[in-house]
Amino acid sequence: MILPKNMAIGMFDSGLGGVSVLAEAIKMLPNESFLYYGDSAHAPYGEKATNEIKKLSIRAADFLMKKGIKALVVACNTATSVAIEDLRKRFSFPVIGMEPALKPAVQIATAGKIIVMATPVTLREEKFLRLLEKYQDQRDIIALPCPGLAELIERGCCSGKEIENYLINLFSPLKRESISTVVLGCTHYSFIKKEVKSMMPSVQVVDGNFGTIKHLEEVLRENNLISSLAWDQRKIECFTSADPEQFMPLYHRLLSQKLGE
Ligand code: DGL
Repeated sequence: MILPKNMAIGMFDSGLGGVSVLAEAIKMLPNESFLYYGDSAHAPYGEKATNEIKKLSIRAADFLMKKGIKALVVACNTATSVAIEDLRKRFSFPVIGMEPALKPAVQIATAGKIIVMATPVTLREEKFLRLLEKYQDQRDIIALPCPGLAELIERGCCSGKEIENYLINLFSPLKRESISTVVLGCTHYSFIKKEVKSMMPSVQVVDGNFGTIKHLEEVLRENNLISSLAWDQRKIECFTSADPEQFMPLYHRLLSQKLGE
């Protein structure tokens, strides 16, 4: 019988974006086992109706729960904004969500505008509006919805002309020299961090991955759920709702890329 603390941590996203969170988790918590589920058959979530996102999020979380997990990380800002409360009510294990890393951005940005790139759903939901309200008196914050961007990345397009053109169009209405910080408020966008940075070399680009895993570690500790496995006993397994032959190589390529950074 496996001890609860040695069970895996479940993690899901609408697709491959959460692989960037998984990589951070593997680096920061080397003795933990992880089960990752990417709902690539239904990506992107960020432009779907709220009810649809809730339904898909519950289905993804149930898939992981049935495999046996001790905690769940919703490695998707969009699913968190819409479904986190339902997920917390549904399960007795800890459920950790994600939000655009506005708090660390406000701490590091001494001057200049803070841009928050995220999906249209994340930026219009109550959760983000409350976060914005908390910080908008302290800094000039611009919410920048990025329709279609997660979809592009989900196709494996993380660099090159298509991404470059998307970003040029996205940033063209803004005065780039007035921007000090860009928050990547969607886990897919972590894979284009370099591309965003190359558009504005003097800007700080932050994502929420480190903060989320730090929080996960605290929650595991509080609940006496830190693994006692040796690093070579832990397991990491990925699943997808889409065609595994098409998506698994992509997940694994992006995971190794992030682990190597
Ligand atoms: N990766 C997701 C997020 O963090 C959503 C991307 C999408 O499916 O639209 O918001």
